[in-house]
Amino acid sequence: MSNIELNQAQETTLSRDFTTLTRHVLSQSGDFSADAYDLSLLMGRIALAGKMIARELSQAGLAADALGVTGEINVQGEAVKKMDQYANRVFIRAFEQSGLVCRLASEEMEKPYYIPENCPIGRYTLLFDPIDGSGNIDTNLAVGTIFSIRQQQGIDETGEALDLLQSGHQQVGAGYVLYGSSTMFVYSIGKGVHAFTLDPSLGEFILSSENIRIPDHGSTYSINEGNFWQWDEGMREYIRHVHKQPGYSARYSGALVADIHRILFQGGVFLYPGSQGHPDGKLRLLYESAPLAYLITQAGGKATTGTEAILDVIPDRLHARTPLIIGSTKDVDLVLSFLQTRANG
Ligand code: F6P
Repeated sequence: MSNIELNQAQETTLSRDFTTLTRHVLSQSGDFSADAYDLSLLMGRIALAGKMIARELSQAGLAADALGVTGEINVQGEAVKKMDQYANRVFIRAFEQSGLVCRLASEEMEKPYYIPENCPIGRYTLLFDPIDGSGNIDTNLAVGTIFSIRQQQGIDETGEALDLLQSGHQQVGAGYVLYGSSTMFVYSIGKGVHAFTLDPSLGEFILSSENIRIPDHGSTYSINEGNFWQWDEGMREYIRHVHKQPGYSARYSGALVADIHRILFQGGVFLYPGSQGHPDGKLRLLYESAPLAYLITQAGGKATTGTEAILDVIPDRLHARTPLIIGSTKDVDLVLSFLQTRANG
């Protein structure tokens, strides 16, 4: 050991602490090209937005105007929570004058939001769900932010964003921030899935798990069984089947990000099927299902609507919904076997 080195344990801690999110994205890109720097800066801005949202959430119970609803109804027909509105605004402000993202599209906005000063050089569109699981906010339970990055294809004068109506294979990156007992940032740019934990003392996301592989099978299934009688018979049969299997547990948090995070590390399956009156289910393809399908597929898992891979689905509109069955390959295949048996009569 030279006299400028520390002992082994100290050097290991330093290496870990310096593996920050932006450095990791840069190293993943494999070169120090302008593209690599752009993606790394972009991910850094998402992380900054995540940290601001985490800070607001951590004090929401004390702030005069942070909890509850705004009184407005969003484009999805849902009551807008004050935190939804705040988090959406944080993302817009995070990308103003960044030169990175020309357009933002979110579950909370009817049409994409342009940042004209960025458009001459900003080649990306960022799609996001600012607060996923916002029903959990008022009771201090886990929530998340989901994001998806797509290459911008020209300026669209109509504001209809028709270039976004393409499959999930067009994503160049995706991930989520989980606001749980710690704040975590999980991302992929097509080279594995990596998780970072916010170190509040440094204000940095530090690498905590690299190249995560989802187990082939897990012992939990995650579905809102309150909707049991609204599903097709194939889905009901699958649930009856797991009820009879020893060793299965039901886990459903009310926040998709939290359930997916557990499944990513421990295996299992999350389901939000279509139901009577809502054949496409509840979850939005561009802001929820496609980015999470991108991540889970990168980790070796599977995501389907029940008839088609989520990443193959081409939406017919910006806020299109899809049924979602996602998680460990064997568990998703088991669900599919019940759906297909029923479909084949
Ligand atoms: O809109 C998204 C979401 O809040 C998910 O985070 C969650 O998994 C789901 O909806 C919960 O919906 P429900 O209350 O119908 O089970």
